Formats: sequence, structure tokens, C-alpha cells
Amino acid sequence: KYQCAIFDLDGVLVDTAKYHYLAWKELADQLGFTFTEEHNERLKGVSRMDSLDILLEVGQMKDRFTVSEKEEMATEKNARYTAYISKMDPSQLLAGALELLRELKQMGIKIALGSASKNAPMILDRTGISSYFDVVIDGNSVSKAKPDPEVFMLGADGLNLPYNVCIVFEDSAAGLEAAKSAGMLAVGIGEERNLTCADVVYSSLEKIEIDKYF
Ligand code: BG6
Ligand code: MG
Repeated sequence: KYQCAIFDLDGVLVDTAKYHYLAWKELADQLGFTFTEEHNERLKGVSRMDSLDILLEVGQMKDRFTVSEKEEMATEKNARYTAYISKMDPSQLLAGALELLRELKQMGIKIALGSASKNAPMILDRTGISSYFDVVIDGNSVSKAKPDPEVFMLGADGLNLPYNVCIVFEDSAAGLEAAKSAGMLAVGIGEERNLTCADVVYSSLEKIEIDKYF
């Protein structure tokens, strides 16, 4: 049985992909190319600066900007993104998220956040779930992006738990790969065809048979 649940945030507990998409799309519009929702799939789980590189690659503008110009673009994108998420509320938690957090807490299971986002604290706060987490590891505390396992290892380290008693819930391929490299159980949330490296995939948090794992 497992002793700790580590949650990715974007796409697992909250549906923020739509806000990331809108904010990136505005940048693409300014630069004069089309950025579709399908392109946006490639940004899931990817850090902010790596996302910008992918976006510029889509627009065939990859080597056109200096580092400081790129930093400025990322800052502007983030300003647009934070304008969206600052209006979030608990109704924007994904199906089953609150129930699962509550149940795990009642069972005495440790709960960690393992997110690539530097905006994680604001999202946890706006959706009212900060108090469920025993440890929060986010984009502000990691030096290596997923698929590097650092983010999940720091979560387990913060709880003084060995990696093999931790389950990771993730919606991105990079995140699942990170969980596997850390020696944790990798549970995919989403569509099986996109998440081939998961140990098991559920279409939503609601579907998880909690007694099977904890
Ligand atoms: C991940 C998202 O959780 O966080 C990515 O899936 C995002 O789309 C990344 O780029 C970094 O987020 P932020 O909020 O620090 O720009
Ligand atoms: Mg995610």
C-alpha cells in the first residue's frame, strides 16, 4: 500500500490549460501566426521558457529573438495568464479533485504537490485547496523541468518518505516519465493513447479506485 499521493496541478486538479492557451495565443497573434489548441497540447507539463521555444518553433521564428526579448515575451504571457487565474474559484476544480483530497486526508495519507508552475500558490489559494497539502513543490523550487524526476523526489524528501511508497497523478507524458524515473507509481489522468508510459490510466480523478492503492 502507498503512503503518499503527489499531484500535478494543471490538468489534474484544475483545468488551467485553457488559460495558458489563451495567453499564448495572444502572443502568437501579436507575432502574426496561428496557434491552435492542438499545438497547445505540446505545452502541457512543459516549463514556461520551454513552452515559449515550442510556440516560436510553431511560428517558424525560433532563432529570431534575443534572450531578453524572449524573457519579455514570457513575462507578458504570464501577466495575461495571471489575470485569468486571479479570477478562479473552487468551482474550477476538476471532477473528483476535492473528494479525493478529502478522502486521502481522512485516511491519513500524506499529500504533496509536484507542479512545474510558478503560479501554483495562487491557483491553490484561489481554488481553496492549499490546506490539503503537506508539502508544495512547484516551479519556484525546482532547478530541472519534467521529465526530470527532481520535482517529485523533492516532494517525497520533504515528507521523509521513500520514493516507492509514493503515487504520482499526472496528465502529461513528461510528468509520467518523471514519476517512473523517480521509482514511483505513475497514474495517468486523461486519454490512454497520449499517456503510454503510465502504469495505469484513468479518464478522470473520479474513476480512481482509492482502496486499491491506499
Ligand atoms: C505546467 C503546465 O503545469 O506549468 C504548463 O502544464 C506550464 O503548461 C507550466 O507552462 C509552467 O507554468 P507557469 O505558470 O509557471 O508559467
Ligand atoms: Mg499537468
